[in-house]
Amino acid sequence: MPRITEARGQADGLVLRWDNGAESSFPWFWLRDHGQDPESLDPATLQRRVDTFALDEDISGKESKVLDEGRALAVTWLDDSGVESRYSADFLAAMSGFSSEEPGERPDLAPRLWSAARKLPAIEPVPHAEIGDGSAGLRRALQQLQRDGFVVVEGAPTDEASARALFGHFGYIRETIFGGLWSLSAELHDHEDTAYTTQYLEPHTDSTYCHDAPGLQCFLCQEFDGKGGESVLVDGFALAEELRAEQPEMFQVLSEVSVPGRYIEPGVHLRSEHPAIRIDDKGRLRQVSFNNYDRAPFLLEPARMKAFYRAYKDLHSRIVARDNWLTIPLGPGMALIFDNWRLLHGRLGYSGKRVFCGCYHNHEDYESALRTLA
Ligand SMILES: [Fe+2]
Repeated sequence: MPRITEARGQADGLVLRWDNGAESSFPWFWLRDHGQDPESLDPATLQRRVDTFALDEDISGKESKVLDEGRALAVTWLDDSGVESRYSADFLAAMSGFSSEEPGERPDLAPRLWSAARKLPAIEPVPHAEIGDGSAGLRRALQQLQRDGFVVVEGAPTDEASARALFGHFGYIRETIFGGLWSLSAELHDHEDTAYTTQYLEPHTDSTYCHDAPGLQCFLCQEFDGKGGESVLVDGFALAEELRAEQPEMFQVLSEVSVPGRYIEPGVHLRSEHPAIRIDDKGRLRQVSFNNYDRAPFLLEPARMKAFYRAYKDLHSRIVARDNWLTIPLGPGMALIFDNWRLLHGRLGYSGKRVFCGCYHNHEDYESALRTLA
């Protein structure tokens, strides 16, 4: 990270010169609001202690000093508060756009996108015995999840208590209409959903009908005596990036049009809407939502509707292209954990008896596990 070489106070703020040759400007009010000294910011929780709304909007700095060979900055104020605000150069550099985020703020800095055009990832199962709180195995599993969007665990006990314990390492188990830890088998008729059949399931993301779709989805194969039923994974982020490069107008349509999803069974009627491709204000991919089974009706004006269907079909053709699939046969004792905001998942049709259990985690809890392990 660059260091500060000079701080120059001006009427409206402070200009910093950096050893990478760049300059950046910070308004006085912003600087007073963002002090990192203990009077301004709780050092443990990083919660703001500054009363933003009590500050004079015309507050101005009195003196600024570059400290620690450009690694830090101190500012005093003309308001007689006696406060000396402190800042690390790393923080100010990040805020200047030299890195995309405040240090540690965004854990998924380097996902390795995969597809037929790039390269499909190797499946490197992590042994169940190596996974425990704070263990090297858990760290490896989380790193694989962040990098490839999924991880396989092998040698897991197949009872429910052990499944709960395993999945609990990745976040707390989320309660949904399917329960916390749910069971999945064609023999069960708990829910009238395509997942509870033996037929081929086209790759999709789960819970397009939730305002906050689960971030991680976990499966554990408890029993399988039959043929077929391989799990299929597709990297939605890779396909979205390929669409953005090859068909930018289609990418734009899919990032703008909200697609409603719904789930209906006796006593339940869930509904939400998301663009198929959600990007943040910097254009970075945040979430892919695609489930044609659960799509609810919506109508746009004719030209826009046509553009949507064309783009949606293009994305679909990439999703069902088998070259883009990673196919994983899951046998008893194998668990699959994947990012439901990034990957789509499906299943090949099967015959015989297949019993799975699984659960969901929130994306922020998964991200929290990544940050705290980092
Ligand atoms: Fe699913």
